[in-house]
Amino acid sequence: MLFTNKNLIYVLSVLCTGVAAGVFIHQAIKPPAEQHASTSPPSYDNLSGNSALSSAISPLPLTIDIDEDKAALGEQLFHDVRLSADNTVSCATCHNLSAGGTVPQPVATGVHGRTGIRNPPTVFNTVFSFTRLWDGRSMTLEEQMNTPILNIIEMGSNWPDLLNKLRKDEDYQKAFKALYGEGISQQDVQDAIATFERSLITPNSRFDQYLRGDTGILTDEERAGYQLFDALGCISCHQGMNIGGNLYQKIGIFKPYVSSAPRKEIDFGRFHITGKEADKFVFRVPSLRNVALTAPYFHDGSVATLDEAISLMGEYQLGRKLTDAEISKLRAFLHTLTGEFRGKPL
Ligand code: HEC
Ligand code: HEC
Repeated sequence: MLFTNKNLIYVLSVLCTGVAAGVFIHQAIKPPAEQHASTSPPSYDNLSGNSALSSAISPLPLTIDIDEDKAALGEQLFHDVRLSADNTVSCATCHNLSAGGTVPQPVATGVHGRTGIRNPPTVFNTVFSFTRLWDGRSMTLEEQMNTPILNIIEMGSNWPDLLNKLRKDEDYQKAFKALYGEGISQQDVQDAIATFERSLITPNSRFDQYLRGDTGILTDEERAGYQLFDALGCISCHQGMNIGGNLYQKIGIFKPYVSSAPRKEIDFGRFHITGKEADKFVFRVPSLRNVALTAPYFHDGSVATLDEAISLMGEYQLGRKLTDAEISKLRAFLHTLTGEFRGKPL
């Protein structure tokens, strides 16, 4: 092994300092809506958890303050195929709320059977991540939805057509009028869908209950998995409220990443945005919340199982071959990260 874990954590903390500066700049340019969403702090009686480790990961807030009526309208739009050019694809086609907020395929299928090269990330808890999309190119939820709506391989639509279709629907006319005033504007649609997306939080996972002080809730195997997650350094990258989603990191720190996806286009991640050599293969570290439900894994959807994802993390990110026993403990821990949606296990 080239680095000890202490060294790795040191290297990462240096990297993270740079990233943190980036975060600061990003936050400075966030519009008010997003600032409100991502900075409203959770309040707990007992946030201290039971070990020094818990400060790196914090539980999700049990509730989030949003306008319920706008969220309900947004939910309807999220499931409406009229948002796509040929009325066949809705947001939920690729972000199925009954399937972990994503789909069980490596890449999702948009209008006319077209496919892209990226795995759809879950829409659950995305409000708690510092940016949107695998390469973080989208800052706000409002802005993000332009990507699927306008993208020729996803919904292939445009705002004038989309708004014309919605304006013909009397129920929408009434609902928008009541919440936003006369007419249906692009901004209103974006606000309603984004409000719904902010409501997609999955609190109260067994691990969150543990962090809040119910130490008996995890089995020995799950607790050992958490200790390993910390000791190996997984927590250096997958951390914070979303156990990920707050840093950019390279995939392939100890050896170059080679995708086993069938498509041959190489996805360089943030390099496509910044053009900087150092950003090749840099992605937003994914959140591990509900990760047991969101297979397949990685930006290209090339990794079929959680065990395989854990094993590859060992090789690419930590420079070590994890044993079957280690993988099994880590898997047990990752399964404790499944939360509740609307009071029921996801
Ligand atoms: C054809 C499939 C498809 C459709 C339809 C679709 N998405 Fe996505 N979605 C994706 C893919 C693929 C990504 C990742 C793209 C990337 O990283 O470049 C994504 C990413 C996202 C993200 C970012 C999540 C995160 O944490 O980074 C959000 C939010 C999202 N979509 C919301 C929506 C909404 C809202 C709609 C409807 C207006 C929608 N999506 C329609 C496939 C789809
Ligand atoms: C150096 C930072 C770093 C470390 C250390 C790290 N990860 Fe990751 N992890 C990432 C990045 C970046 C990705 C996204 C990879 C991709 O999509 O190509 C990822 C992806 C994952 C995924 C797939 C998630 C998904 O939704 O696709 C899992 C599971 C995971 N990591 C678990 C772990 C575990 C367990 C450890 C420790 C054994 C670990 N990671 C260590 C940065 C890291």
